[in-house]
Amino acid sequence: MSEPLTPAQIEGMKEQAAYYAVDRFVKNGMVVGLGTGSTAAYAVREIARRLKARQLRHVVGIPTSRRTAQLALELGIPLGDLNSHPQVDVVLDGADEVDPQGNLIKGLGGALLWEKIVATAARQVVILVDERKRVDRLGQKAPLPVEVVPFGWRIHVPFLEERGAQVQMRAQDDGEPFVTDGGHYILDAAFPQGIPDPWRLAQALQTRAGIVEHGLFLGIADVIVFGTLQGVEVMHVSR
Ligand code: A5P
Repeated sequence: MSEPLTPAQIEGMKEQAAYYAVDRFVKNGMVVGLGTGSTAAYAVREIARRLKARQLRHVVGIPTSRRTAQLALELGIPLGDLNSHPQVDVVLDGADEVDPQGNLIKGLGGALLWEKIVATAARQVVILVDERKRVDRLGQKAPLPVEVVPFGWRIHVPFLEERGAQVQMRAQDDGEPFVTDGGHYILDAAFPQGIPDPWRLAQALQTRAGIVEHGLFLGIADVIVFGTLQGVEVMHVSR
């Protein structure tokens, strides 16, 4: 058994993945999607640092959540939105799981809908993770977030259970439902053995009224940057 990773080691892995991604993929004049979560936040901070130091110029950030917008504003990154900048050059975002084909589960931070919209608008999708996020099969470690319209949300519970999931509605600390930036609820669908056929499940979720989006990001990532104890590892995903 290897030693458990320390918090400092984990943060170090996230930070080096983020630093590498900004260094390699963010250039002057770009419209840059700003992801959500603790790893993406390192990238947001590094972009801000470079802008301030004039190592980077004329970047416009497109935040994937209100939380990220707040952070970017505090750091002085000029922001736009997809309606003013419908073509995003690159998005840097985190993930909760990455399989050997570069498919992802995202959304533990609750921002999956806006994240997927920004990824859809992006020429290049770069994912930054620490090595703990690698899985053989999606669903092995993280539940799959499913974003639903509040109206009639309970009807999706048996639908997900029939597909092998153990379902929990995401709640805040006070027990009230967690509400996404888009005003929806999230059902966390756990698949303890992993998701047998993610593409088939994605198809079933996509075509059901009331399900707004789900955290399966299949065939979306172009590059995965893994922070590891031995340095950065880069996976280019062929699509
Ligand atoms: C946000 O909704 C998620 O998709 C995040 O990208 C994900 O939870 C990764 O977060 P960490 O970098 O904090 O693990």
